[in-house]
Amino acid sequence: MTGLNSEEIVNQVRAAVDLVDVVSEYVQLRKSGRAYLGLCPFHSEKSPSFNVNADRQFFHCFGCGAGGDIFSFMMKIEQLTFPEALQKLADRAGIIIPQQQKEESPKHSAKQLMYEAHQLVAKLYHYVLMHTPYGTEARRYLEKRGMSVQTIEEFQIGFAPDSWDFLTQWLKKRQFSQELMVEAGLLVKSEHGRIFDRFRGRVMFPIHNSQGEVIGFGGRSLDGAHPKYLNSPETPLFNKSATIFNLHRARAVMRRRKQAILFEGYVDVISASQAGFGQGIATLGTAITEQQARLIRKNVEQVIICYDGDTAGQEATSKAIQLLQETGCTIRIAPLPAGMDPDDYIRKYGAESFSQQVLLRAMPVTAFRLQHLRSKHVLQDKADQARYVQEALRIITQLNSPIERDLYERQLAEEFSLSLDALKLEAKRVYKEQKSNAQRDKVTPGWNNSINNGKFALAKSLAPAYETAERKLLYYMMHKREIADRVMQECKADFQIDEHSALAAYLYAYYAEGFAEDPGQFIHYMQEENLKQLASGLAMMECKEDVSDTEIGDYIRQVNNYPLRAELDRLREEQRTLNLQATTADDEDTRKQLEIQAAVVGMKILELENALKEG
Ligand code: UTP
Ligand code: MN
Repeated sequence: MTGLNSEEIVNQVRAAVDLVDVVSEYVQLRKSGRAYLGLCPFHSEKSPSFNVNADRQFFHCFGCGAGGDIFSFMMKIEQLTFPEALQKLADRAGIIIPQQQKEESPKHSAKQLMYEAHQLVAKLYHYVLMHTPYGTEARRYLEKRGMSVQTIEEFQIGFAPDSWDFLTQWLKKRQFSQELMVEAGLLVKSEHGRIFDRFRGRVMFPIHNSQGEVIGFGGRSLDGAHPKYLNSPETPLFNKSATIFNLHRARAVMRRRKQAILFEGYVDVISASQAGFGQGIATLGTAITEQQARLIRKNVEQVIICYDGDTAGQEATSKAIQLLQETGCTIRIAPLPAGMDPDDYIRKYGAESFSQQVLLRAMPVTAFRLQHLRSKHVLQDKADQARYVQEALRIITQLNSPIERDLYERQLAEEFSLSLDALKLEAKRVYKEQKSNAQRDKVTPGWNNSINNGKFALAKSLAPAYETAERKLLYYMMHKREIADRVMQECKADFQIDEHSALAAYLYAYYAEGFAEDPGQFIHYMQEENLKQLASGLAMMECKEDVSDTEIGDYIRQVNNYPLRAELDRLREEQRTLNLQATTADDEDTRKQLEIQAAVVGMKILELENALKEG
């Protein structure tokens, strides 16, 4: 990139795209004072510490320290290089980056080509399905499954003809490198080096990333060929465990209805969407991952799990509950008749029934757990029953609400004709037993923990004065040029913390180049990610707008005096040691020697203390 032009484009893009808009696509933000607040997408948390400053256009997380401007955000969240992030944001703003500037990164263009190929191939397969004789059988199949043309269009469902080289030839004609298309997962290379189509004779469901770009496919066989669904492999575009099917379409509905429905299959999502439930999403044939759970929680709190009504579905539900609960989701579990999946249900009973009988009857986690437990137990005799009741109580006693506990206890008592009082007594015992178990589990590793925690607390409470002073100074320097000038002139010592010192050096250079007082612009100006993060954190500090000259003077003195103070601390420590040694000395001579040494150190201490008072 030629320096000037690229800088111009970067500024143009920065001015055209709003950080709050961009972040909102990944994080549910709520306005809080002058900032926007949400759950950090870069680490796992339950209460929001992710801040976006709309005026200044930067973000900062107080939990994990991530921070920076709109480009940093894009790079971090989509794992992009700077040119890729720039391109993406430019596209969004409708700004065209001149060709010659684009070509500097071959990796960037390779990935870009993969995106392009996927977009074109999705269109191609869709065209084949809708408008060619190759697609006739698949069209009939989809029609039989109750999919309307409108739905097929909306989900851009397609068909890959049963051919070894249909796509291979097509991509060749369009000058896509065969090797690259193998890497993109669209073609396959055999051991003998022969290249051919990955998807043959399959109904194609495009899979998008959260931006709505096609990054892979799920292909369903028509004739029972194995596997039933063939998915794209892991590629530079497609990361199965971080992708959620249909999220880009569902997101808006999810937020509006404050709820997501989590399905197992592509077709379940599509079928539900056609029936009017656009908030449906699914994982890609694998159990839900922590990453996916977090991605969901960024968008909504309430999740209805709607998995198949069989044992496998129940087991999968149990796992999903745990992961989703850990990210702070509220969960309900939709009941489906055994042997039916959501798509079957909707086709057989219709949208209204799905809404009334399935979604509205979704159970809280405890009810599901109890039912699940019940289904695993064969209750033939009293002993079976007793064991079951114990396990059920273990679930019930985990509930915080006494009213809920009472409800489930009553149900349980009724079911097994037990006296409620006896049951409640037993519940108390189970509760105590669990608590002491939990305590024991905590104690063993806790021994270490408590030491670490202690250390941490100590370190925090002793956050040294010079550190605070440096941070305050940097804050005001970022906001007021004259303060930066003053610090430059009056600070004899460097800032003690290396990164602070680097930040100060950047600030001097920044103002010297004639830039305005603007923390957002300054953060963008710096090259290093870690400094961007540090600066965004500092800029978010709660400092009063108007700071007096005296206060700034105090901070500067703190910085200047630091070397003296450090020396003073060292001397005091030395004096303490000498005195201690003197009191425990074996013979009189040694003791005297040590006392003299301690006195010498004591004089140095006095000197330094006086110097500090004057300073
Ligand atoms: P299911 O076997 O429940 O299929 O797989 P389904 O959704 O009911 O599909 P239809 O109705 O028979 O067409 C659920 C999901 O598991 C993944 C797919 O993501 C599918 O949507 N899967 C299934 C695979 O990845 N490979 C397979 O071979 C089967
Ligand atoms: Mn199905």
